[in-house]
Amino acid sequence: MPTLFVNASQIVTCAGPARARRGAEMRDMQVLSDGAVVVDAGKVIATGPQADLARQYPNASQIDCARGVLTPGLVDSHTHGIFGKPRHAEQELRASGVGYMEIAKQGGGIHGSVRDLRSRSEDELFHLALGRIRRLAAHGTTTLELKSGYGLSLEDELKSLRVIRRLAAASPLRIIATFLGAHEIPLEFRATPRTRDEYVALIVNEMIPRVAAESLATFADIFCEPGVYTLAESRHILTAARGAGLGIKLHADELEPGGGAELAAELGATSADHLAAVSDGGIKALAGAGTVATLLPGTMMFLGRTKQAPARAFIDAGAAVALATDFNPGTSPTVNFPLMLTLAVSQLHLSVAEAVTAATVNGAAALGLAHETGQIAPGMSADLALFDIGDIRELPYWYGDHRCARSWVRGIACHDPGADGNFTLLQPASAI
Ligand code: NIG
Ligand code: FE
Repeated sequence: MPTLFVNASQIVTCAGPARARRGAEMRDMQVLSDGAVVVDAGKVIATGPQADLARQYPNASQIDCARGVLTPGLVDSHTHGIFGKPRHAEQELRASGVGYMEIAKQGGGIHGSVRDLRSRSEDELFHLALGRIRRLAAHGTTTLELKSGYGLSLEDELKSLRVIRRLAAASPLRIIATFLGAHEIPLEFRATPRTRDEYVALIVNEMIPRVAAESLATFADIFCEPGVYTLAESRHILTAARGAGLGIKLHADELEPGGGAELAAELGATSADHLAAVSDGGIKALAGAGTVATLLPGTMMFLGRTKQAPARAFIDAGAAVALATDFNPGTSPTVNFPLMLTLAVSQLHLSVAEAVTAATVNGAAALGLAHETGQIAPGMSADLALFDIGDIRELPYWYGDHRCARSWVRGIACHDPGADGNFTLLQPASAI
């Protein structure tokens, strides 16, 4: 039986082509007043004036949106949610002047999370991540990418990806897994240049084939950055990943310019992420290649860096910009996606329509899911978020607040006040 979503003050549909919106296309988010949405069998089947749809579907059950704003569920296309303990000590260290890369050189940063994750069981990691996913969902995220990358050994990377697979089966969210074995060079492979090469060989010859054979990830990613993976290593690893059937993504030009964006374009990556230090040539290359530029303003803010990614230049060049939280224990420990919209408007100088497009339809495109989610339109999955505001412009405005009242994925309740504002597992955790 169909369900009719009624009584919303606005419905922001982002309806349009089922692909990334580029440049000026990002300015059109499509707002319906007095509208309604009809959902059946997990999909949107109609949108339009409420009076018409109520007449057309007289037997539909109704969900009262209580004059809130209904949007496509938010698509967080870049997170590192599989880790053990938080790394709060590093925040104070950075405040005292020790840089992010300096902390990593001293064996902290990502290396600290690697030591910690290796010592934990799959079950423990699953339950830690499940709690975090509930908090991400509580802010309106309905599609979530999760990366491995704190294992950095064959077994620990597979363990992390299995946790993601269990989360995808247990939680109502749509979850996409990314293999990030190339997050760092692990400390035990650093004695000589040869052993660094051995780790790259381990990724290419053992990790990628296992990940692909067990269908444990949709994408492979790499931290391509001066001081981490070189351009040549990145090209080698990502070419192998693509050959094994994985989509490709890059952490590119996050802290220093290094040609990562140009490489992403050359390889036809689905997305290049971070880009705070991208070159002008990198901006043009990404726009030309149609690679989504995923910007993560929370990371730069949390690291205390003043330089944000040049979002306006990307849009002016005709690129597709997405936004994501980069949720991770080192550089962006936030679950609050609407806060990223605030930063996008206030620091990246996006309009609200551009920011909403970046957080929905372009996030979906950054995961190869633009045909399925990111907009409220007939044929799309019924992935919806309801916010307790009267105008979409209030979403970035009430910054740091919690305004998501409810959400649905495939028409099934996700963030749900009926379950104490949490979601109900699709299967009991013990059964997975
Ligand atoms: O996206 N840059 C690499 N990876 C993460 C940070 C990981 C960490 O510090 O734990 C990022 O910023
Ligand atoms: Fe990241």
